[in-house]
Amino acid sequence: MMVFLFFLFLNSVLGVLAENCDSCVDSGKTWCVEYSECYKTSNSSCTTQIDLRLNCPTLPKFEYDDEFVRSQIWVMLNAVMSKNPQLCFDNQLPTMKLYKRREVNCSEKYENVTCAGYTAYDTTKKVIAIVFRGAIGQNQVKDMTEKRDKFGLKSGFNVTNGKILAFVHEYAMKLLNDGMKQDLIELKRDYPDFELWVNGISLGSNLAWAIATWIVDNGLYKPDDMKIIVMGAFRPGDYAFASWLTETFPYNFHVLHRSDPVSYLPRYLPVFNKTVFWPKTEVWYNNNMIPGEPFHVCQQADGDYCSALMKSSTPDDLDHLYYFNIDINRWGPDGCPKNISAYGQP
Ligand SMILES: *[C@@H]1O[C@H](CO)[C@@H](O)[C@H](O)[C@H]1NC(C)=O
Ligand SMILES: *[C@@H]1O[C@H](CO)[C@@H](O)[C@H](O)[C@H]1NC(C)=O
Ligand SMILES: *[C@@H]1O[C@H](CO)[C@@H](O)[C@H](O)[C@H]1NC(C)=O
Ligand SMILES: *[C@@H]1O[C@H](CO)[C@@H](O)[C@H](O)[C@H]1NC(C)=O
Ligand SMILES: *[C@@H]1O[C@H](CO)[C@@H](O)[C@H](O)[C@H]1NC(C)=O
Ligand SMILES: *[C@@H]1O[C@H](CO)[C@@H](O)[C@H](O)[C@H]1NC(C)=O
Repeated sequence: MMVFLFFLFLNSVLGVLAENCDSCVDSGKTWCVEYSECYKTSNSSCTTQIDLRLNCPTLPKFEYDDEFVRSQIWVMLNAVMSKNPQLCFDNQLPTMKLYKRREVNCSEKYENVTCAGYTAYDTTKKVIAIVFRGAIGQNQVKDMTEKRDKFGLKSGFNVTNGKILAFVHEYAMKLLNDGMKQDLIELKRDYPDFELWVNGISLGSNLAWAIATWIVDNGLYKPDDMKIIVMGAFRPGDYAFASWLTETFPYNFHVLHRSDPVSYLPRYLPVFNKTVFWPKTEVWYNNNMIPGEPFHVCQQADGDYCSALMKSSTPDDLDHLYYFNIDINRWGPDGCPKNISAYGQP
C-alpha cells in the first residue's frame, strides 16, 4: 500500500516536472493556466490558454512601482509635450534638468509631421533620461499608416534577429542622427555611472523600444543599467523582436490604460502576412488610474490576455490620452502645474 502511494506521489511530481508551459507549447500543444495541464487541442473549459512560449506565464524580475511611475515617469512623458520640458521639471521634479529637446521633420510627404524627444539628467537621483513624444495630428497618423503598409517590418539591429516596424526604425534614426545620438554620448561621458531611463508614450513608446535596442546594439549601455517604461505602445515588431525585448531588458514595463485603442489594433498585417507582438511587459489599469486604484501585472505577452480581453467592448480614445487621470494634451503644455484638478478624465 505504502509503495503504491509512493509511486502515485512520484508519478505526479514527475508529471509536473515533465509537463510545464514551455515544454507543452514546444511540443505543439496548448497549456491551460487554470489547471496547469497540457492539452492536445484548445479546451473550452479552460479560460487562459497558451500556445506560444512568449506567453507562458512569468512575473517580471522587478516589482512594478505605481508611485514611481505616476509621480516621476508620467511627468517625464508630459514634459515632452512642451517646447520647454524644464517647466514640468521645475513644478514636479525640481532636480531634473533638461539637456536638449529635439524635433525633426519625419515626413517627406505631409506637412507638420515631426518626431520629438529630449534628453535630461538628474545629479541627485543619478539618472540620465531619454524620452519620446507620441504622434500628433492626422497627417502623422497618415504618414505612419502609409509607411507601415508600404515598408512593413525590417531587421534594423545586429543584436537581435527580430524585425521591427520599418517606419519606427526610420523615425528613430532621424531623431538619433539629428542630434540625440550626440546628446546621449555627451551625457554618458559627463555622468558615466548614472542609470538610463528610456521612456515614451504612444508612438514615443515604440521609439523608446527601438532606441533602447540601438543603445544595446552600439554597446552604449548594458540592459541592466536601463529602466524602460512606456505607455500606450502599439505592437513593435515580430515574435522574435518581442521575445528579444522580453529577454534582454529586466526592467521593462508597458503601462496600458483600460480600453486604450492601441490594444485593439490588429496583430496581423495582411499586406505582409506577418503578425506583430508586444513583449511581455504589460501593466494594465482597468480604471481611471486614480491613486490607489488597482493594476494588473500581466504574466503573458500578447494574445487574449489582460488589456486584450477588452476587445469585446469598444475602444475609448480618451483612455489613450488620459493616463493616471491626467490629460496629456493639456497638462504638459501647461508646464505640469501642481494643482491637477482641472486635468482629470471626464
Ligand atoms: C478539458 O479540460 C478538462 C478540465 O481539465 C478536462 O477534464 C478535459 O479532459 C479536457 N478536454 C480535452 C479534450 O482535453
Ligand atoms: C518636411 O519635409 C518635407 C519634404 O522635404 C516638406 O515638404 C515639409 O514642408 C517639411 N516639413 C516641415 C515642418 O519642415
Ligand atoms: C502646419 O503648421 C503651421 C504652423 O502651425 C500652420 O499654419 C499650418 O496650417 C499647418 N498645416 C497643416 C496642413 O496642418
Ligand atoms: C551591424 O552589422 C552591419 C553589417 O555587418 C555593420 O556594418 C554594422 O557596423 C553593425 N553595427 C553595429 C552597431 O555593430
Ligand atoms: C503566411 O505565413 C505563414 C507563416 O509564416 C505561412 O505558413 C503561409 O503560407 C503564409 N501565407 C501566404 C499567403 O503567404
Ligand atoms: C485647483 O484648481 C481648481 C480648478 O481649476 C480650483 O477650483 C481650485 O481652487 C484649485 N485648488 C487650489 C488649492 O489652488
